[in-house]
Amino acid sequence: MGIVYHEASKEFHLFNGHVSYIIQVLRNNQLGQLYFGKRVPEDQDYGYLVEMIQRPMTSYVFEGDRMFSLEHIRQEYPSYGTTDYREPALEILQANGSRITNFEYTGHKIYAGKPKLDNLPAAYVEDPSEADTLEIDLTDTVTGVKLVLLYTIYRDRDVIARSARFVNEGAETCHLTRAMSLSLDLPDCDYDWMQFSGSWSRERQLKVRHLEQGIQSVGSLRGISSATHNPFVMLKRPHTDEENGEAMAFMLVYSGNFLAQAEVDTYNVTRVTMGIHPHNFDWCLHPGESFQTPEALLAYSSTGLNTLSQTMHSLLRQRVARGYWRDKERPVLINNWEATYFDFDEDKLVQIAKTAKECGVELFVLDDGWFSTRESDRSGLGDWQANTKRLPNGIKGLSERIEALGMKFGLWVELEMVNKPSDLYKKHPDWILHVPGRKASHGRYQYVLDFSRKEVVDNIHDQIAKILRESKVSYIKWDMNRSLTECYSVAFPPEQQGEIFHRYVLGVYDLYNRLTTEFPQILFESCSSGGSRFDAGMLYFAPQAWTSDDTDAVERMRIQYGTSYGYPVSSMGAHISITPNHQLNRNTPLKTRGDVAFFGAFGYELDLAKLTPAEREEVKAQIAFYKKYRGLIHGGTYYRLQSPFEGRGNNVAWMVVSEDKKQAVVMYARILNEVNGPYHRLQLQGLAENVRYRLTEENGKSFGLHYGSELENVGLVTSDAAAGEVPDRADMARDFESHLIVLEAE
Ligand code: DGJ
Repeated sequence: MGIVYHEASKEFHLFNGHVSYIIQVLRNNQLGQLYFGKRVPEDQDYGYLVEMIQRPMTSYVFEGDRMFSLEHIRQEYPSYGTTDYREPALEILQANGSRITNFEYTGHKIYAGKPKLDNLPAAYVEDPSEADTLEIDLTDTVTGVKLVLLYTIYRDRDVIARSARFVNEGAETCHLTRAMSLSLDLPDCDYDWMQFSGSWSRERQLKVRHLEQGIQSVGSLRGISSATHNPFVMLKRPHTDEENGEAMAFMLVYSGNFLAQAEVDTYNVTRVTMGIHPHNFDWCLHPGESFQTPEALLAYSSTGLNTLSQTMHSLLRQRVARGYWRDKERPVLINNWEATYFDFDEDKLVQIAKTAKECGVELFVLDDGWFSTRESDRSGLGDWQANTKRLPNGIKGLSERIEALGMKFGLWVELEMVNKPSDLYKKHPDWILHVPGRKASHGRYQYVLDFSRKEVVDNIHDQIAKILRESKVSYIKWDMNRSLTECYSVAFPPEQQGEIFHRYVLGVYDLYNRLTTEFPQILFESCSSGGSRFDAGMLYFAPQAWTSDDTDAVERMRIQYGTSYGYPVSSMGAHISITPNHQLNRNTPLKTRGDVAFFGAFGYELDLAKLTPAEREEVKAQIAFYKKYRGLIHGGTYYRLQSPFEGRGNNVAWMVVSEDKKQAVVMYARILNEVNGPYHRLQLQGLAENVRYRLTEENGKSFGLHYGSELENVGLVTSDAAAGEVPDRADMARDFESHLIVLEAE
């Protein structure tokens, strides 16, 4: 691994064993992007990659010269208005009304390790030897604004982390109206764009389309990263599949408004940009002040999408997530939400916990409805004291009763919100985001607290920290159930209102930071009506997130499969719920619900007492299985095998292989049964070629003894035993069935 600067050619080459990234200081002192891709030799001059052709209708930088035009040059962090007509990485509105800037190279430094970003989540290193960092300084001499571009390349991960920092070293105030985290110009456009889009309960569905001239983009203007689009996209070559071919991943470590876009120009150059969405963004930079963008992670694979996802998984699991729970086995939990909704009292909760404990559950989580006047979703948010009508002994008393059962206790909160019927709102009506003189819109009857204000964050912090200090809370589910509207803060002057969306996110990070610092052993799970804020920024504070409010096993196959392109299994909260399923009214077998939820941070979302004794025995076996294999499932290498986003989407399969390749667990499902269907094979991945594995379904059925190479090349026979004329045969497949096969090396 290294970063070298070649003085003669003015080229920076960042590289590790697999990846190269090459930048050049151009003739006009701006930065050109020469190459990003598979590793190439480091001692070569790549100046020939600055391609220029004299073309009509082009504007040029140097007088008398008809070659050098930024329109034709692939750049590193472009601005608009000086011969480049594509969308820029930055824009600065200056006192004289101009938005033109010219950032010229003034120097750089290269050092081992990776810096922390002020008040922002980011990937990190545990030892400086894990990565090298390059900081390139550029200055716009007219405004005096300095721009620092940060690049960190990991030694053993095919990832480059990028961000930008602006420092106003000039004499006048200016406005940063666009400050992307990453801009990357690629020499062609022969890529498929992969995005992960959806809505509430339908999160992160893979959508693929070929890049075309023009702009294709996804983003969020909801104030949260959102379920509509995820701040994660991939580009792959058309023939790239899970196992072969070139692909890149782009992920923003951020939880608010974002933009991810690819602009293909008329010469087929692709410009990828990612960062805070410029719409409504306007950061006032007074002399002496600086602005740091969030970090964007750029990953590369020449060996298919599975490798690329695995790169993201291990980075997020090991160098974005932090703290006590990062590498620990996650507890099996039971959450009372779908079991009771708002209808509970202390004894009912303890009863649910007791039955769960008998089945092997380790953590009881009390969801919404425990505080203040919160007996429906119309009141109570903002007042974080227990409702003593329901919980006469408070959270302290309940948590002690749960611990006395031999379980840990967890608590739901929604700290960023307030209902009008609450003491907090009565006392501080101006603490919500709102524009004076205009009405504030509600979502689920609630209003968004102005987290851009420190005193608001302080108040909420003090309320919740008090409960955590005096009670036995081991887990927090941090929910957030609406998008932002009227995003205006009465605490800031007019010229700073374009900062509020970002300041809100910084306030959320600040509160997370304070709570995770003071209570390092509490396991945090983030949530936003399910997976509406499932992003790397959240994972920095909370190593797991509630993946979706949709707990139906079939829908979860799609949601978890889509999520797996960017995020590790350990980050996906996944629970078994009752049937008929509350979101879809669908009946799926308990086994299928378990097989899918095993590939996540596993738990239950029902009252186990409502199951039959036979089902409770099945639950006990599920929990025993999960406890045995959770280390492997969370720490192993994950492979997607069959996609619900391809064809009719009827076959879904994935597997996890242990690091030493001695164990693996495979899940496969045929969602709708087939009559007189074709033969099926499932080719496994990631096994040791010459090792023989014993394959056993968890019901004890043996799939024989097979070599790794056999399972990868010949495949596992997964045809159904019978589907046709003979009704009710015991071995006949049914709709929504899944299979779980454990592989143990001989
Ligand atoms: C939305 C969450 O996603 C649910 O799991 C539950 O916690 C409810 N909010 C409670 O209001």
